[in-house]
Amino acid sequence: MKKIVLFLCCLAAMLPMALADEGMWIPMLLQRNEADMQKAGMHISAKDIYDINNACLKDAVILFNQGCTGEFVSDQGLFLTNHHCGYSYIVRHSTVEHDYLTRGFWAMNRDQEIPCPGLTATRLVRMEDVTDQVLAGIDNNTTEQDRAKIVEKHIKSITEKAVEGTHYKAIIKPFYYGNQYFMYVNEVFTDVRLVGAPPSNIGKFGGDTDNWMWPRHTGDFSMFRVYVDKDGKPAEFSKENVPYKPLKHLEISLKGVDEGDFTFVFGYPGTTKRYVTSDEMAMAVEMQDPISIDLRTIRLKHYKAAMEKSPAQRLRYASKVASIANGWKKWQGEVEGIQRLNGIQQKQQKEEMFNTWAADKPEYRNVLKELHEQYEIMRPIQKRMLYFTEAVYASDFMQLAYQLTNLAGVIDHDGDASMFKAEIDKLNKSLDAYYTDFENHSQVDKAIFVETMCYARHNGMIDYKSALSDADFEAFLNEVYAKSLISQPEKMRKTLSKINPDKPGKAVEKLMNEDPAVQLVMQCYFSLYQTPENASAAEARNEISRLMRTYVKGMMALYPDEQYGTDSTVKKPYFFPDANLTLRVAYGHVQGFQPRDGVYYKPYSTLEGIMQKENPDIYDYVVEPRLKELYETKDYGRYANSKGELPVGFIATNHTTGGNSGSPVLNADGQLIGINFDRCWEGTMSDLLFDPDYCRNISLDIRYCLFIIDKFAGAKHLVDEMTLVEK
Ligand code: ARG
Ligand code: GLU
Repeated sequence: MKKIVLFLCCLAAMLPMALADEGMWIPMLLQRNEADMQKAGMHISAKDIYDINNACLKDAVILFNQGCTGEFVSDQGLFLTNHHCGYSYIVRHSTVEHDYLTRGFWAMNRDQEIPCPGLTATRLVRMEDVTDQVLAGIDNNTTEQDRAKIVEKHIKSITEKAVEGTHYKAIIKPFYYGNQYFMYVNEVFTDVRLVGAPPSNIGKFGGDTDNWMWPRHTGDFSMFRVYVDKDGKPAEFSKENVPYKPLKHLEISLKGVDEGDFTFVFGYPGTTKRYVTSDEMAMAVEMQDPISIDLRTIRLKHYKAAMEKSPAQRLRYASKVASIANGWKKWQGEVEGIQRLNGIQQKQQKEEMFNTWAADKPEYRNVLKELHEQYEIMRPIQKRMLYFTEAVYASDFMQLAYQLTNLAGVIDHDGDASMFKAEIDKLNKSLDAYYTDFENHSQVDKAIFVETMCYARHNGMIDYKSALSDADFEAFLNEVYAKSLISQPEKMRKTLSKINPDKPGKAVEKLMNEDPAVQLVMQCYFSLYQTPENASAAEARNEISRLMRTYVKGMMALYPDEQYGTDSTVKKPYFFPDANLTLRVAYGHVQGFQPRDGVYYKPYSTLEGIMQKENPDIYDYVVEPRLKELYETKDYGRYANSKGELPVGFIATNHTTGGNSGSPVLNADGQLIGINFDRCWEGTMSDLLFDPDYCRNISLDIRYCLFIIDKFAGAKHLVDEMTLVEK
């Protein structure tokens, strides 16, 4: 008996199954998880979450632009997302005089809401499994190139047909590496207005220092409203537009959550790599992560020094630094997490099991071996490409030099005068940005240019001027910066204005041949892309996608399609598809964890913690005077918990990733209890490997959000629009 139990335990440890709480499930197929979710504590049904015939929770969830999630909280099109998702729109409307980023912004009436051209909110109307139609006519003998063409053709015809006669837009995405395809029919709203955002000291409290960490005290939310035309259809901004009436908006629970309570997250996770081989995992954590971390450390150093110098420079670089630092920090957590779990060895063990199973199956027998060979071919060029994006492309200066080569591109592709003019306009726009406060910016950007290029060269990733010593190469870079037209605003503008769009050939050729920055960027580009290695890497990439499709298909054949879920009485599916920016449900429980020996993290934080972190001398930890006042008088109203504390954030075991920012976090009754905005540092490897002991998503407690809107900002009219459930 003992032996059998031991054997079963070992087997369980080897399986690639979704561990308890791991998984980002497809809403349309949620029936398969329903029993498990209910066993885990959910009171509602899968149909309450996704149903094509009736309004359901999915109608309250939107994709915010192409990278965050939002949720409707009123019947007037009002929705919530994260502060860091709305960030660039808040920055865009901020000036030193009207600094909404620093001071916050609250529309006190509809007229004050700020249009955000270009911003979209996308609602899923319905989804459908279209695998058979997409793959019709494809068999084992079809080449990869032909397969791609057929798939593309079918996708075009299926999507066109699906939206015929409607204002909807359809997309089809591959799942399980192209073993399955789903179509998404969407409604895309294009008049989206900024309604409210707390000051940075709240919306970004803790800044990049606290980012990816628990305990957390960030009031990471902002509010927008969707407007539609008089017929209720999506429309571009117009004064005549009216607030959208969603089919469903979320009820908000003021009851809060306790440790152990069921929660689920409903949103748009972007990318996970759950099924990659040990080779790809090694490439990520042994090559890509460390190189990117080093190069970003350089950029951050220069930007941060500039931001210390003046409020104008702080504003200028705020958004950029937030995004550079975000990946930089996450990758550090990812490397540590994979090391702690011996992730690569774990993968290798599973691969051995797969090979044993596949030994007598010709379709799968060699797939891992072949994948390994292709990774050997691809790895070196992957490294060069990384250097191109993280080093060569690190400075605005090199990006502009690259943009200049587009002028030659237009000529090479027989573009006409109007296309050429359009390219010049684009360039002038980029230059406008570059020359703003050029005295300061050129110093920062030049320092980044020189240091990142030197780093790349030192690591053998730039072959140009190979005879020069490191020191001479640095001197050469300084000379390139000084001599390029890009660093000479007047000359640059004059040169561009003198080019005749009808006959640009000679002038452009001169620019290409004479400008040292253009020369440099072209050399870097050629030594990367116009090499035999690059051509074979492109082939390798195609092969990898074909082989991964086979490997994943094999894994799905190897393991039964169900496993026990929350306990041994209910089952749930084995495999969830990797995230691909489609709507998913993740579920789990509110739960603390033990990050290190002797340390236990409680699952929720309160205003108390904000006061503990307060430091008027450190930008990230300044507490707004008004918030302090409310703290001192303990004026929390109905937003306090049963202990009289004001809850700020909580963590849970939901499996989330980038893109889930802004996602609604719901309770067992499907009511809103929080807004997802981050993961805990110790669990950031969950894109590659999920560990239930460490992986936690971080949410803003909805009560803190409402407290800020109502008590702090005095914008109670917005809370009044919402549907609150107090008991
Ligand atoms: N880490 C979160 C995410 O991946 C929040 C990022 C924004 N916050 C920041 N301090 N940079 O998007
Ligand atoms: N902050 C992330 C986002 O913007 C969510 C955190 C994560 O990666 O899980 O989507």
